[in-house]
Amino acid sequence: MNTFSRHRRLRANQQIRRMIRENHVHTSDLIYPIFIVEGENIKQEIPSMPGVFHFSLDQLKNELNEIVELGLPSVIVFGVPSTKDSCGSEAYHEHGIVQKAIRFIKQEAPELYVIADTCLCQYTDHGHCGPVEDGEILNDKALELLVQTAVSQAEAGADMIAPSNMMDGFVAAIRQGLDETGFPHIPILSYAVKYASSFYGPFRDAAHSTPSFGDRRTYQMDPANTREAMREATSDVMEGADLLMVKPGLAYLDVIYRVKENFDLPVVAYNVSGEYSMIKAASLNGWIDEQKVVMEMLVGFKRAGAELILTYHAKDVARWIKEGSYTV
Ligand code: PBG
Repeated sequence: MNTFSRHRRLRANQQIRRMIRENHVHTSDLIYPIFIVEGENIKQEIPSMPGVFHFSLDQLKNELNEIVELGLPSVIVFGVPSTKDSCGSEAYHEHGIVQKAIRFIKQEAPELYVIADTCLCQYTDHGHCGPVEDGEILNDKALELLVQTAVSQAEAGADMIAPSNMMDGFVAAIRQGLDETGFPHIPILSYAVKYASSFYGPFRDAAHSTPSFGDRRTYQMDPANTREAMREATSDVMEGADLLMVKPGLAYLDVIYRVKENFDLPVVAYNVSGEYSMIKAASLNGWIDEQKVVMEMLVGFKRAGAELILTYHAKDVARWIKEGSYTV
């Protein structure tokens, strides 16, 4: 008599485990973030993100070759400008650092799909994602600057615009701006559900974007809320987003799952800087097995419903897959 189920039959060996595996991490799922700084001869490791570097443009060629050889399809570009002002004008300058970087990448590595992060916080002297008046971050004024930023990134050759600023109405404004300037074909990857997270700490070191006063909680979301995430995603879908991002990833797998269940757009998980740094620190101490932990985490994003994963681990993962030390 069959009194209990023998689940172990389908776990008996490597072959059957591979055959019934439900989720996989592929190199083509991954988007690799790169940080570009002004200046020359700079390839400098970011102290809180071992293995991640600041590059000046003249040092970027080798890195691009490596990314292409590993088979990674896409990069997202973050600029670290040398000057900042109250309205973040380097963000939308024709020869701003990101615009120069996008042109350079499209010229040197045309096979890479280039995504531009559209925000102001790296470029404003107060470090907020919009202009400030009397301590208030001004939503609608920010939109005008964000549209200029997105259009200048498209003009530089960006294949996709990824606005991360969390101002209300940014998708509608940017969509209209792109459409009116000859870029109706450029998709928008909306950071639709972005929480006010302390996991961004190392990124803010890297991008020099820590707010000089206050925090981002009047525009980024409260980590305690999921219904609010549905409202954010709904408005971005209605405004014309092409893909929806959830950020951070690790502590928000339930949100990825709910976004996937409720919307038909591709879902992107941002495996943020603090998540990367925790794993790096533990593995450099010999406390965890880096490869196994990274792959377990990434397949967790896939299982939760993400189609794409933006991750600082992308190059390592692509290498492990290529070398065969991780079997897809
Ligand atoms: C810009 C932006 C941030 C990140 C990506 N784009 C920082 C922030 O919102 O403070 C964080 C990414 C990471 O931590 O890896 N708004």
